[in-house]
Amino acid sequence: MGFPETFIWGAASAAFQVEGGWDADGKGAGIWDTMSDGKIAHGETGKVSCDHYHRYKEDIQLMKEMGLKYYRFSISWPRVLPEGIGRVNEQGLKFYSDLVDELLDAGIEPMITLYHWNLPYALYQKGGWKNREIVDWFAEYVTLIVDALSDRVKYWLTINEPQAFVGLGYTIGYHAPWERCSEKEVAQISHHVLLAHGTAVKIIREHAKIAPAIGMAPTGKCYLPADDRLESIEQARKRSFGFETIHSVFGNSWWLDPVVFGHYPEDAYRVLGENMPEIMPGDMELIAQPLDFMGINVYQSEAAYGENYEENAYIGAPRTMVNWPVTPDCLYWSIRFFHERYGLPIMVTENGLASMDWVCLDGKVHDAMRIDYLHRHLLGVKNAIEEGYPVIGYLQWSLMDNLEWADGYDKRFGLIYVDYRTQKRTIKDSGYWYRTVIEQNGKNL
Ligand code: GCO
Repeated sequence: MGFPETFIWGAASAAFQVEGGWDADGKGAGIWDTMSDGKIAHGETGKVSCDHYHRYKEDIQLMKEMGLKYYRFSISWPRVLPEGIGRVNEQGLKFYSDLVDELLDAGIEPMITLYHWNLPYALYQKGGWKNREIVDWFAEYVTLIVDALSDRVKYWLTINEPQAFVGLGYTIGYHAPWERCSEKEVAQISHHVLLAHGTAVKIIREHAKIAPAIGMAPTGKCYLPADDRLESIEQARKRSFGFETIHSVFGNSWWLDPVVFGHYPEDAYRVLGENMPEIMPGDMELIAQPLDFMGINVYQSEAAYGENYEENAYIGAPRTMVNWPVTPDCLYWSIRFFHERYGLPIMVTENGLASMDWVCLDGKVHDAMRIDYLHRHLLGVKNAIEEGYPVIGYLQWSLMDNLEWADGYDKRFGLIYVDYRTQKRTIKDSGYWYRTVIEQNGKNL
């Protein structure tokens, strides 16, 4: 038994990271457009980025050349609703409609992420995620997108990595809007994010023109068991879903217990006490809308190299260009733990490597380490499938090199190399390698 015939093979990106065209054709500003001055490495900005907004046709040809079957992209909320609500920017909406058509013409299925972090600045000024009204604002935006695109789009992801944008954006102040909020505020923001998620699922379910498949794309980072004893597995599972301090908003159960079980983890009540969010009647039912699958974005695990997780590396342990440890078993364990806890089919919505790439003398990009990283991580997916865990897809992060948020452009995650001076694209060796994996449906792994 190998990968199922219907397996979803693809790559992912996010609007702010690739589009550029930051004020093109009536686009409004998002928090990453207006607030990032001096906050991104080397003073870089997302103004032009990969200029995907103007070059999407060329990019789709490259996707085709790599044999991708699916492309996951996100919609820029301020591109379609410049003030976040109210006036629609028809040209912005047309961009996404044209993108969907062009993908389908190329035989590539579109998959939409509704929120990948670029909150309209106008809504930020009204309190953004701190204001419970954002649930209605998000509903208006989602309805617009679903009405415009659901005649052609089947796969929907509501929110990308709430852990990262609430954790990095509002807890430690490393991402937009660069705030360090109180425990109470972080909890309340989280609750609004979850309500927005549930509302989006409901709207897609009720309005979609073709039968939708709906999931969320949280991070799915887990702890690796130190060895294969049952106690070690249980210890790793417990830590993977624990809630110990407010920094557990970077973890799993704070978000996904509400989404799947309809309640916050018990430990959170104990730890946060009166700082728990204000929950109105009906909130938890709204949050826990049935999903078709669980997305997980996984790049690494916490690994114990000795008796415990404090010894989580060894001298010279491999690390990526964003300094993440390389832990190839992470996908196997995340798939297993997430499926065992939440019972849903799993889609790996992101996995990939930031490596040290450049165009070599022969004009090609020889990214052997990315091929090895992908190979090892895909073996984890394969093992999970062979043990009977239902995995429906794998999306490589990322389609092409792009703006790695606050870390700037030199952290290259792409299957396609981008020379930002000329916008010349070069498919890396890994892109051709991935094509073979897709062609053979993973039989060569
Ligand atoms: C995230 C986002 C991506 C990142 C990727 C690499 O997870 O942070 O989904 O936008 O670029 O994960 O850090």
